Amino acid sequence: MSSGDGPAAVRWRRLVADRLAELERLSPAAGSVSGSFWDSRAGRYAAAVRRADTERDPFLRRLRRLTDASSAVIDVGAGTGRFALALADGVGHVTAVEPSSPMLAILQRGAQELGFANVTALQATWDEARVEPADVAFSAFVLTLVPDAVPFLAKLDATARNHALLYLGAYSGDAVLDPLWRHFHGAPRVPGPSYLDAVAVLRELGVEHRVTVVEIPDHRRWVTVEDAVESYRDALLLDDTAQVRAQLADLLASWLLGRRGAYRSPLRVVPAAIVDWRGGQLAGR
Ligand SMILES: C[S@@+](CC[C@H](N)C(=O)[O-])C[C@H]1O[C@@H](n2cnc3c(N)ncnc32)[C@H](O)[C@@H]1O
Repeated sequence: MSSGDGPAAVRWRRLVADRLAELERLSPAAGSVSGSFWDSRAGRYAAAVRRADTERDPFLRRLRRLTDASSAVIDVGAGTGRFALALADGVGHVTAVEPSSPMLAILQRGAQELGFANVTALQATWDEARVEPADVAFSAFVLTLVPDAVPFLAKLDATARNHALLYLGAYSGDAVLDPLWRHFHGAPRVPGPSYLDAVAVLRELGVEHRVTVVEIPDHRRWVTVEDAVESYRDALLLDDTAQVRAQLADLLASWLLGRRGAYRSPLRVVPAAIVDWRGGQLAGR
């Protein structure tokens, strides 16, 4: 923690810390969200972020517009590599920074299967990672897991020769899941930080940035209600018991749209925010 942090950075830290404390309380064995939490989820995560869906993602389109065959790119918290691998074909080099070894293993397998020799996988958190500057440095759906936003953003800024970008959710998933959350936990969920909190931190740092709110089509489908139970149980931080599964299956049966073979969420699109800025703005400050 830096004593020089302003109110937005302090607020960010409190929001993330409260949210992580709730996770720790409800799922004490879940592991760190900067690593082991993702280890047991890697396979499911890879299945949820399918390649065909990524091709339609507005963030990928933005990244493609900002890069060309000579670009060096860094993906911070690359996960199973949906953006890193989708970009690799059209850029010079991609460095994927990711602390979870099972997530990174899926990314590396993907790079091998696709025949990409220009992808470097680095197992590290962003604060640990030793990387050279790149033309474009980006991080998708990671910042809200990181209490200390300022060093994370400052390193992204320092690493980006041209463009730095963040991709964050722009709606409260909690609001959508609230009835289900309250049913099981008896209270609303502790609020997490939003993209507006991230924007407030950038503003506080004096980083001139641009925000674009986009819509990500939600193409997830579940063959059976039981398949949906698995992903909602995880999102709702519920214990894996027969009773919880049965109750959740009952609730989801009336909540999901579609039918057996292709159940889907009532949300057709998920709003998200692309925050981008010219890198190197914090140098020398
Ligand atoms: C929700 S996933 C997003 C993965 C990927 N960016 C995507 O959009 O598909 C969050 C990822 O951030 C990684 N992560 C968490 N804390 C991190 C940190 N401090 N530095 C780098 N990566 C981190 C996790 O291991 C996980 O793979």
